[in-house]
Amino acid sequence: MKHSSGFLALILPLFFAVQALSAEADGVKRGEYIFRATGGCTCHTEEEVGAFLSGGRAIQTPFGTFYGTNITPDEETGIGDWGEPDFVRAMREGVSPRGAHYFPVFPYTSFTRIRHQDLLDLRAYLLTVTPVRKENRAHDVQPRFKWRPLLWGWKLLFFTPGEFQEDSVRSAEWNRGAYLAQALGHCKECHTPRNLLGGPKENMAYAGTRQGPEGEAVPNITPDVGWPR
Ligand code: HEC
Repeated sequence: MKHSSGFLALILPLFFAVQALSAEADGVKRGEYIFRATGGCTCHTEEEVGAFLSGGRAIQTPFGTFYGTNITPDEETGIGDWGEPDFVRAMREGVSPRGAHYFPVFPYTSFTRIRHQDLLDLRAYLLTVTPVRKENRAHDVQPRFKWRPLLWGWKLLFFTPGEFQEDSVRSAEWNRGAYLAQALGHCKECHTPRNLLGGPKENMAYAGTRQGPEGEAVPNITPDVGWPR
C-alpha cells in the first residue's frame, strides 16, 4: 500500500501538469481560431513590409491617420507585459493598461461583444507569436481630436460595453452568425457609414461607405438587392 501511494504521489502531479499543459495548448489553438475569425487583426501588420502584428499599418479616417499598434508579445513595445485583466479591459472597455481611452479606430465597440473565454484564448494565442521590438508610431490626428478625455464623451454616445447576448427566439445558427459578425468579424466597423462625430449610423448598418480604412469604398453587404443591373 505504502508503495502504491508513493507512486501516486509521484505520478499525480505529473498527470495534472500534463493536463494543464494540454489545456494551455488547447487554449492557444482555440485562440488562433478566434484570431482568424476576427479577420487576422490585419490592421496590426504592415502589408508586405512589416513583421507580423508589429504595427505601423496606416488606417485613414476623416479625423486623421492612425497607425496600428504592436500587439506582439514584446515586453517593451508590444503587449507582452500586459496581464490577462489588461487585455480583457482593452478589448471589453477600450481602456489601456494605463487607463487611457483608446480611439475607436480600435474597434472595441465590436470586440466588447467577444465572450470572456474567447478573449483569454485569443490572448493565449497572441502570446505565442514572435515578439518584435518596434515602437508604436504616433497617430497623425488633427490636434483637436488628440485630446483623449474627449473619447470619454464619444464612448458615452456610441459605445455600449458588454458581451454578446444570445437571442433565444432565433436559431443557434443565427446566433453563431451574429456572434461572428458582430463580435469577432467586426464587419460593421468598416461596412457602416459614420456621422460627423465618427459614430456609426445605426439606421445604415452594413450599408457600405466611401470611407474605408484605406480611403477606399466599402460595399453594401445588407440583403438589399440594389439596382437592377
Ligand atoms: C477592415 C475593414 C473591413 C472589415 C472589418 C470587414 N470588411 Fe468586408 N470589405 C471591406 C472592404 C474595403 C471591401 C471591398 C473590397 C474590394 O472592393 O476589393 C469589403 C468587401 C466585402 C464584401 C464584398 C461585397 C461586394 O459587394 O463586393 C463582402 C460580402 C464583405 N466585405 C463582407 C464582410 C463581412 C461579413 C465582414 C465581417 C465578418 C466584413 N466584411 C468585415 C472592409 C472590411
